[in-house]
Amino acid sequence: MTTATPAPLVFSPYDYAVHEDPYPFYARLRAEAPVYHNPDLDFWALSKHADVREAFRAPDVFSNSMGVSLDPAAYGPHAYKTMSFLAMDDPRHARLRKLVSKGFTSRRVDALSEGIERISRQYWDECLDRSRDGGEFDFVEDYAGKLPMDVISDLMGVPESDRDELRRLADLVMHREEGGQDVPEDSMVAAFDLIAYYQGMVAERRKQRTEDLTSALIDAEIDGEKLDEDEILSFLFLMVVAGNETTTKLLANAMFWGHQYPDQAQLVIDDPDRVSDWVEETLRYDTSSQLVLRTTMQEVTVRDVTIPADQKVLLLIGAANRDEEVFEDSGAFLLGRDTSASLSFGQGPHFCLGAHLARLEGRIALDQISRSITGYEILPGAQRVHSSNVRGFARLPMRVEGRR
Ligand code: HEM
Repeated sequence: MTTATPAPLVFSPYDYAVHEDPYPFYARLRAEAPVYHNPDLDFWALSKHADVREAFRAPDVFSNSMGVSLDPAAYGPHAYKTMSFLAMDDPRHARLRKLVSKGFTSRRVDALSEGIERISRQYWDECLDRSRDGGEFDFVEDYAGKLPMDVISDLMGVPESDRDELRRLADLVMHREEGGQDVPEDSMVAAFDLIAYYQGMVAERRKQRTEDLTSALIDAEIDGEKLDEDEILSFLFLMVVAGNETTTKLLANAMFWGHQYPDQAQLVIDDPDRVSDWVEETLRYDTSSQLVLRTTMQEVTVRDVTIPADQKVLLLIGAANRDEEVFEDSGAFLLGRDTSASLSFGQGPHFCLGAHLARLEGRIALDQISRSITGYEILPGAQRVHSSNVRGFARLPMRVEGRR
């Protein structure tokens, strides 16, 4: 009898097989190389929950200052991304985050509920209409791809008449060439158009304040210090980059996994009060933000492996969230399990500022959806995005059974 030798373990976040299903790769990384080194692509990767969590909490060693994406295309020409405080370390990061948090409060986010319900209702009703008489729609294009950017615009105070255009620009900003690492030119142009739009909005609010986040950012002050123009603009831009695509993908991932595990989705359709369990388990099981990058500021030893200074290290959030040492039966999509250790929104000083908003949006969206249907079907033609860090769908054709 011959025993098959397992293929050598090679992990790359650019690999299409990883985009299709990263979890077998993650399982091998955790078991065989929890401190993985890929010399060809020049990065390291941590996959065990304890290591990822500790790295998040040790910003002096694992720095954000060289950016949080492995993909060089995510930086370079997008000047406003590099300037955001996500790509800074304390104390500058802490100062900016504190100032921004004066405007981006949970009270302000909670006050968005009505707006989220209204926007969601409008797009979802259109999907229900299309589903009548056996019709179909694309959950991403017709619903999940629209809601988060409109909600961000609502929060910032973008008038409704401009929101379609801003959504178009944001889509272009996030647009990536299949498998390519370069920023397409239309994406760069859109980034500058978006910034120019926000520049105009900030100038208007400086003349006349309203109740929106933009006005609050202009007025935010700590010990006499305020945000300057570029700091406000880079934050508005960061919200689009960090909060738009991730939330779109969360919504579609929830629908996809609910379809793969119909008994779990049925729990929510039967009892919509369980909608929060659906959101939380989707975040743990298949989070839209699969990894972030850190750069080592000094030599560091993790599990007996020494990583030199000035190395790129990927924190594999998606792998940590499936670590059996923390989540029993981690490969099962199970509503109601304890997800409190999930690392989907990061940890430590850079913990996602929009976590509350993303959860609120997820709950409102899935609540409306589950209260309006008795079941749903995902049709052939679903397409995953090919991205080194974002996980989710570019297309998700669906048909639903509306409640009478
Ligand atoms: C940071 C995930 C939605 C704004 C982060 C980080 C993660 C993350 C993992 C930490 C990055 C790091 O440590 O390098 C997610 C996921 C979301 C989501 C999975 C949706 C499902 C949002 C939304 C907003 C937002 C809706 C705002 C509109 C931010 C900001 C930061 C951040 C501003 C930077 C915080 C800092 O550097 O101090 N997010 N996010 N995110 N997120 Fe989110």
